[in-house]
Amino acid sequence: MAQNWSPDSWKSHEARHLPKYEDAAALAAAEEKLLNYPPLVFAGEARALKSDLADVAAGEAFLLQGGDCAESFAEFHPNNIRDTFRVLLQMAVVLTFAGKLPVVKVGRMAGQFAKPRSSDTETQDGVTLPSYFGDNVNGIEFDPAQRRNDPERMVRAYSQAASTLNLLRAFAGGGYANLRQVHQWTLDFMGRSPWADRFAETADRISESLDFMEACGIDPATVPQLQGTSFYTSHEALLLPYEQAMARRDSLTGDWFDCSAHMVWIGDRTRFEGSAHVEFARGIGNPLGMKCGPSLEPDDLIRLLDTLNPGREPGRITLISRFGHDKVEAGLPRLIRAVEREGHSVVWSCDPMHGNVVKADSGYKTRPFDRIQAEVRGFFAIHRAEGTHAGGIHLEMTGQDVTECVGGAVAITDAGLNDRYHTHCDPRLNAAQSIELAFSLADMLKLAAEEEQADAA
Ligand code: PEP
Ligand code: CO
Repeated sequence: MAQNWSPDSWKSHEARHLPKYEDAAALAAAEEKLLNYPPLVFAGEARALKSDLADVAAGEAFLLQGGDCAESFAEFHPNNIRDTFRVLLQMAVVLTFAGKLPVVKVGRMAGQFAKPRSSDTETQDGVTLPSYFGDNVNGIEFDPAQRRNDPERMVRAYSQAASTLNLLRAFAGGGYANLRQVHQWTLDFMGRSPWADRFAETADRISESLDFMEACGIDPATVPQLQGTSFYTSHEALLLPYEQAMARRDSLTGDWFDCSAHMVWIGDRTRFEGSAHVEFARGIGNPLGMKCGPSLEPDDLIRLLDTLNPGREPGRITLISRFGHDKVEAGLPRLIRAVEREGHSVVWSCDPMHGNVVKADSGYKTRPFDRIQAEVRGFFAIHRAEGTHAGGIHLEMTGQDVTECVGGAVAITDAGLNDRYHTHCDPRLNAAQSIELAFSLADMLKLAAEEEQADAA
């Protein structure tokens, strides 16, 4: 267990990107409610994810993490949850089939609300208001009442996270995720997407394999894994009053866990030396993610790893690199070499979203699909050259047919962004673009596996 740590020890460290609440009594009341609510996850589940991630770190599995940039109260609907879950399953099927590796599925779901913002305030037409920090803090509408930081929003976010997680658990274990459904998962958009045929082909081959296995006596009745799947949740542990209130002591081991999600991560803007977010994270037993961008120096990374994983537990740390398509080649190898030199075991995952944001001529914030793909390709090539495992992908995506990222086979244009631009924060891949990316990832995984085999021979 971490030394000199308590759920509130972060308070004596420098906290950036935390909202200021005017009403201390209202904050205390909201925290007190959350403290008495049931945990959303059980420590044993977080340990199970850590063990799955240890397999990824060892090169024996692949991590697929994805979901909204920011969940919102407005987009809270069972169909949205179902569609994102379904696209993640479809992507996982494509990846498993190509890479011949188990895929660990983690949603940016059921708690991904809070956002770090570059400025505390926003000015429109001469009026200055607090920035939007996510629906668990304030409202997105540019209106003084909406933009006021309201601690009661944390309680509403908890309740939305609880029902989202409940539905995800039901889908994962209740039959929806049964591989026999692989044909039924086909979405409307598939009819229009050039990837529909390729997905149908994969689905056919899976059905054939299942028929064969069934003939051999291996079916969902004998092998429960065929009936359902493991699905985990994650979010950035940014809003520390909320995360602290969700910290619970595991009754089996006495260790502290942040029971707001299975996995939480530290953002690129809050992983600096002396950070309150790092202090909070070091004391919880969950698997931790950490974003690694161009400003992270190898020595600082090693210091952070020593702080966050002094026991060098495999599966504990996932490093999520987010350099940008044109910076990954210069930035990532030096981090990999430092980690290898120090003998730390980590999962290397690629976030090709946050380093590839551009402002379109139309004024929308977007991410060109070809740049996203280029960063992923760079990530795989670098790991190949360094002899390390390209272990995962971290995406902002949705099951909806939105128009937020330009490009892809569905060819969303700058002018088309206005059609269905719904995100509450950053632009997400839509369902068709997500599947398309999964197929190109699958090709990269296949190549990596073949090369590994050739090396071993
Ligand atoms: C995010 O994942 O939404 C995010 C803010 O990323 P980063 O910390 O990498 O900027
Ligand atoms: Co984002």
